[in-house]
Amino acid sequence: MAPGYRMTTHAPSLPPTVLDQPAGGLPMAVWPCAQTSLPRQRAGRYTPASATHPAKMAPELARRIVASYSAPGQLVVDPMCGIGTTLVEACALGRRALGVELEARWAALARANLALALDAEHVRLAEVRRGDARTLAGLLADVTGTVDLVATSPPYACDVGMIDKPAWLAGHPLCRRDTLNYSAEPANLGHARGERYVAELAGVYDGCFAVLRPGGLLVTVTKNLRRKGRVFDLAAITVELATQAGFAYMQHVVALLAAVRDGDLHARPSFWQLTQTREARARGQPAHLVVHEDVLVFTRPAEPAMAEQLRPQGRHRANARLAAAGHTDRAPRPCGGGGG
Ligand SMILES: C[S@@+](CC[C@H](N)C(=O)[O-])C[C@H]1O[C@@H](n2cnc3c(N)ncnc32)[C@H](O)[C@@H]1O
Repeated sequence: MAPGYRMTTHAPSLPPTVLDQPAGGLPMAVWPCAQTSLPRQRAGRYTPASATHPAKMAPELARRIVASYSAPGQLVVDPMCGIGTTLVEACALGRRALGVELEARWAALARANLALALDAEHVRLAEVRRGDARTLAGLLADVTGTVDLVATSPPYACDVGMIDKPAWLAGHPLCRRDTLNYSAEPANLGHARGERYVAELAGVYDGCFAVLRPGGLLVTVTKNLRRKGRVFDLAAITVELATQAGFAYMQHVVALLAAVRDGDLHARPSFWQLTQTREARARGQPAHLVVHEDVLVFTRPAEPAMAEQLRPQGRHRANARLAAAGHTDRAPRPCGGGGG
C-alpha cells in the first residue's frame, strides 16, 4: 500500500474466511489482526519495557494461531519466544506453554509479561527456558514427542532495531547500532544472513520436528520484504526449509496488519516502514507498504515413512531462492525495526 493512500477492498469487512480452496490446492485465508493498534492490543497486558523488543508478534495474531491450531490443555511451544507473546496468549486460552529464548533480557520480559497478563491459575501453565533454538531437541528432551503445536516467528534475515526518531531527525541513523538484531551475541539468529540463515533455520525446524508429536502442527510467521527493489520471499524459503525437515505444508494464512473499516484498508506502518517506503519511491522504485505477514501451517506427518518421502532438496532450493533475491552473507541494509 502506498504511504498516504487508502486502499479500497471489495469486501466491506474481512472475517477469517477461506478465500480460495481450489480442488487439490492449498487452502488460503485472511485474518484481520490489527483492527485495534498493536500498542493498544498490548496495553495493560504487556509490560511497558516490552516496547524495547524490536520485532514482536501482534497479540491478536498469536491468539488466532493458538485458537485455530490447538485445543485447551494442549502443549504449545515457541522456540524463539522473544517477550513471550505466544506464551501469554496460549495460557490465556487455557493451553500449556513452553518458550525458549536465547537472550536473558527477552526471557526475563517474557516471564514478566506472563506474570502481568495472567492470574495465578493460568500463569502456572507457562515456562520460559533460556537456550539456543538450534539445540531444541536437547533443551526440550523432557517433552519430546508430546508437543501439540509449535508456533514461532523467526528472525527475518534482515536488520531490526529500535527506532530513534529524534536522532534520525538530527541526521543520525534511524536505529542505534547497539540495538540491532536483538543483541550483539553472534549466536543470535538475528545476525544470520544468506546461506548461514538457511543452514541455521534448517536446524531449528529439524528440532521442531523432533519435539512435535506425530500429527502435531508447526506454524511460522514471516514477512516478505524488499532489498534493492527485489522481493525477498522469506515465506517460500520457510516452506522449503520446513518441508526439508519432514513437514507437510497445509495452509497459508495472510495476517493483515491493517484495520479494515468501511471497505478500506487502513495501514498501521511503523515510522521505519514509512520512511523506507517513501525513500524507495523517491528513488523511483514502485515500493508499497507491506501490510501483512505470512502465516504458514505445517503438520508433522503421522507416518515416519511419509516424512522421508517429503524430504526434497529443500535447502538447495532455499539457497537458490536467496541467490535469486541477491541475498548474500553480507549484512543487508536495515529493512525492519520498531516491531509491531
Ligand atoms: C522475531 S523475534 C520473536 C518475537 C516473539 N514472537 C514476540 O512476540 O516477542 C525472534 C526472537 O528469536 C530470538 N532468537 C534468535 N536467535 C535465537 C536462538 N539461537 N535461540 C533462541 N532464540 C533466538 C531473538 O532473540 C528474538 O527474541
